Amino acid sequence: MNGHVENSFDETNDTSDIDEHSNYVEYTDEVVLDPFCNPEQPVLVNFNDVSAASFKIKGGIEKTPCNFSQMSKQYGMNIYFKKDFLQYTGSFKERGARYTLLQLNEEQAKKGVVAASAGNHALALTYHGHLLNIPVTVVMPIVAPMMKVEACRQYGANVVVFGRDFGETKQYAMLLSKKKGLHYINGYDHPHIVAGQGTMGLEIIDQVPQVDACIVPVGGGGLIAGVAVALKTLKPSIKIIGVESERSTGFQAAMAAGKPVYSHVGQTLADGLAVPVVGVNSLATAKKLIDKVVTVKESSIALAILRLIEQEKAVVEGAGAAGLAAIIQGCLPELKGKNVVVCLCGGNIDTTALGRVIERGLAAEGRLIRFGVTVSDRPGGIAELTKKIADMGVSIKDILHERAWLQTDVFSVMVRCVVETRDLDHAKELERVMRSNYDHVEFWLDQ
Ligand SMILES: Cc1ncc(COP(=O)(O)O)c(C=O)c1O
Repeated sequence: MNGHVENSFDETNDTSDIDEHSNYVEYTDEVVLDPFCNPEQPVLVNFNDVSAASFKIKGGIEKTPCNFSQMSKQYGMNIYFKKDFLQYTGSFKERGARYTLLQLNEEQAKKGVVAASAGNHALALTYHGHLLNIPVTVVMPIVAPMMKVEACRQYGANVVVFGRDFGETKQYAMLLSKKKGLHYINGYDHPHIVAGQGTMGLEIIDQVPQVDACIVPVGGGGLIAGVAVALKTLKPSIKIIGVESERSTGFQAAMAAGKPVYSHVGQTLADGLAVPVVGVNSLATAKKLIDKVVTVKESSIALAILRLIEQEKAVVEGAGAAGLAAIIQGCLPELKGKNVVVCLCGGNIDTTALGRVIERGLAAEGRLIRFGVTVSDRPGGIAELTKKIADMGVSIKDILHERAWLQTDVFSVMVRCVVETRDLDHAKELERVMRSNYDHVEFWLDQ
């Protein structure tokens, strides 16, 4: 057997028919502690750890570009994008994954490792496990995108799809770790993971020595902890700014409480940041090094993804675009005129999700809008409306007319349109023209 076991559980997580000789165990509530993430004894990751990681993973990880962006002028600051979405599996997670695998002793490497992840950590670990010939088992929640589940299988990993939420997925991975003697690798809190993620900080200071501030998306806190250690050690004046989605603010809750606390996470475009309890080691390492954590709206994340596609020709996932979202939303006025590195840390976005995000982004910018106008139902009424729209250079995406529910006279028709405009000013101009030509106009502008 090549260590490739496939199975998927149904939504009830029924494990009763599991073969005792397979790579599965019975699901129970037994508390299994992760010895590397002990809330009583958090580990502080230091600069030596990050340097060691950098030395060890060289050769197996891309040194990704950190380019000056043409968006700089638009936002009044020198923006440099650290493009870690260009790693082989599409995210920075490879840094920590490779380092942690390289730090295993012979016996651990032979037996293999286990992790719980819906995406980037699983991809990174399975890919580097494959390269290093270390068996990897990943437990992925039933909501994990099929594309990512399949990619992990392609790398020859044991993929177990289990758990209606991340809590169940992690519990099952912990049980597997205990019962099968596999080394459990927490994707944002294992000290070697944090050290590995910190290598991004070393590259940043090498590529942009004049950096004044670095903006880092925050999920469980591993990336910001590692990057903060690297950057603040080499340049204490640098500002480290964390970004969370408005739907997952666990790091700010933990900073306020002084320890990781449960914080509800909602559906977010930045699924990589949706962590209900942040890491104990990450928090302990990062809390004194972070200058500020800001919260971004979902619409700003959508807009950031859109701008990155249009202006940078970069496909970046929600979590990876959160840093730019903070700039777009105006959360960081103090950075005007400064040299700012924004970590674009992942690019794994589903194609279908991307389509919806682009539409949300266009709507948030006032470039995709909907409105309704009541026009005459006599011949030529709708033609006159469409001509007015066309004369303004506005493009109709969808049009529909409604007669039955109108309160006005029976010779009127309500026409609903979805249209594309150049920008918000163009959309406002369209609204003005419609209102000056028609008595009944309904306009929905998101702004
Ligand atoms: C693309 C991306 N950005 C940022 C993060 C946040 O990293 P961390 O959980 O180490 O805070 C993740 C986590 O999965 C991610 O996938």
